[in-house]
Amino acid sequence: MGRLDPRGELWPPFGAMKLFLDSADLSEIREAASMGLIDGVTTNPTLVAKVGRPLREIVREIAEVVDGPISAEVISTDYEGMIREGRELAAIHPNVVVKIPLTADGLRAVKRFAQDGIRTNVTLCFSPSQALLAAKAGATYISPFIGRIDDVSAEGMNLLRQIVRIFKNYQFNTQVLAASIRHPLHVVEAAEIGADVATLPYKVLTQLLRHPLTEVGLAAFLADAQRIPTSQK
Ligand code: E4P
Repeated sequence: MGRLDPRGELWPPFGAMKLFLDSADLSEIREAASMGLIDGVTTNPTLVAKVGRPLREIVREIAEVVDGPISAEVISTDYEGMIREGRELAAIHPNVVVKIPLTADGLRAVKRFAQDGIRTNVTLCFSPSQALLAAKAGATYISPFIGRIDDVSAEGMNLLRQIVRIFKNYQFNTQVLAASIRHPLHVVEAAEIGADVATLPYKVLTQLLRHPLTEVGLAAFLADAQRIPTSQK
């Protein structure tokens, strides 16, 4: 989500891949937010169950910590249920994005939400044809599950590449959100392909930062700094 820096320039720079945190754990979310690198948060029922508190309560608290889209997933599977639940979730905070599974009823709900101005994140996408339908329905985000495709011995990144190409061909406004990210290479490849967003577990966010040569190099610089005469420091 773009905002103006003190010089009045758009930050992050136009076109930068956004990073969302894939978590419902408030301590992780606070920690990641304090790094100043998080543009939003995604949750799912599994992540919420791990925390063991009601989704609505968690979403309210996330909204106090992160100023960006917060995906909250419906658990209804029928159209009417998704509409009812999605409206309740969207009413919690203007940053809420209603997460909808990629089913026929789900896409009907996405279309309705698009007409009502409610943003959606279509989840559990495993094929380019599913992504095409979600974009046509008016999804704000489509979430291809990269890691889960890798888990069954296929190339998750191929799906991401296909979706990005298809959306570019037709200039769909739907943003491609690389989900089910398991390691830093997934993030780098998603950026090379041109995903709009990558949503990362906290562990992957910290892994992105670290490099042993940075640590070794810093230790050497600090040791050498001790040998500099005080007046030159
Ligand atoms: C996020 O929106 C997805 O629900 C999440 O990235 C799924 O990740 P997993 O495959 O590691 O559960």
